[in-house]
Amino acid sequence: MQVNLRESWWIRDVEIPTRLVLAPMAGVSVQAFRRQGRRYGAGLVCSEMVSCAGLEHRNERTLGYLRVAADEHPLAIQIFGADAAVMADAAKMVEAAGADLVDVNFGCPVRKVTKTGAGATLLDDPDRACGIVAAMADAVSIPVSVKMRRGLENGSRTCLEVGPRLVDAGAASLTLHPRSAKQMYTGEADHALTAELVALVDVPVVASGDVTSRARAQTVLATTGAAAVMVGRGAQGNPWALREILDDVAAAPSREEIVAELILFIRETVRELGEQRASGFLKKFYGWYLGRGRFPRPFKQELVELATIDEVVTRLYAAAPAAHELVERLEAELPDPADEILLDQMPISIYGGG
Ligand SMILES: Cc1cc2nc3c(=O)[nH]c(=O)nc-3n(C[C@H](O)[C@H](O)[C@H](O)COP(=O)(O)O)c2cc1C
Repeated sequence: MQVNLRESWWIRDVEIPTRLVLAPMAGVSVQAFRRQGRRYGAGLVCSEMVSCAGLEHRNERTLGYLRVAADEHPLAIQIFGADAAVMADAAKMVEAAGADLVDVNFGCPVRKVTKTGAGATLLDDPDRACGIVAAMADAVSIPVSVKMRRGLENGSRTCLEVGPRLVDAGAASLTLHPRSAKQMYTGEADHALTAELVALVDVPVVASGDVTSRARAQTVLATTGAAAVMVGRGAQGNPWALREILDDVAAAPSREEIVAELILFIRETVRELGEQRASGFLKKFYGWYLGRGRFPRPFKQELVELATIDEVVTRLYAAAPAAHELVERLEAELPDPADEILLDQMPISIYGGG
């Protein structure tokens, strides 16, 4: 039986219109990525993880992560940290910024984060983890959600002990990426564990890890009972994967569509980050968009080596002239960006995520 992914579900009173969530990814989940994800059918999008210490110190760059666009809702902003009071204050800032949910990161395996006691390490300190969630839930009226890994060590089942406790502490939903922190991104996500977690809690569970196709999404939803699937790497430079997962239309994008989406993404990102930061940030996206056998390999290399973004856009149009019309159409459909703030200083995260 096919599961209908175009079906609403709720995290408390937040309605999420499809059962597909776009993953938070450090160094990827900028506003342009999230808005594109929404256009292609993600029911919920999430910021990359934001440092609560950065928010506490009103670091200008960190504050840039709290920017929410009108067409992103519903949107979660994810924060990380190890101190309950600081996390509660950060949650208040997230709420004031207009996010629909505040998500907490108990999954990041990267040493730079775990050595501060944050991210996945908190799975080994459930009292502290629950204290953080309780303090956040007390501080805000929007729902607090949690994203976690299975545990620290390979084969760990820690998430099954900690998950229900986090719900008791006030978590309104749980996302599980069932790999250990040690695994980073190797091996496979073990969604048998997701099914076990679903059976233990009475809040929605989101299944994250290795969902890259319609068939996989269907299997994960059907075998776990999860409320939604989350897609991360599969959507990098590939919003069409979201539509395919949702609607079962195996429509490979044309050259013009790829170029048009990439140009729009470039323009949006330049507006968001400023040209200087955007030019470094965007390089990995060239490979993601133009790879997958879509364009000859040297083309990507050529773009990466061009000195300015204008040259990149000119070269892209030369490769697919009919993209002009598509870009115009896409831009006309976007909300007016006139009143958005420019943030030249917005950071490109060096963290590896969750
Ligand atoms: C580059 C990258 C950055 C990530 N950053 C975050 C993050 O900031 N917060 C988080 O909770 N997870 C982060 N993750 C984990 C993803 O959200 C997701 O759980 C994981 O990639 C598994 O899903 P996938 O197989 O669909 O990619 C990151 C993953 C990647 C690849």
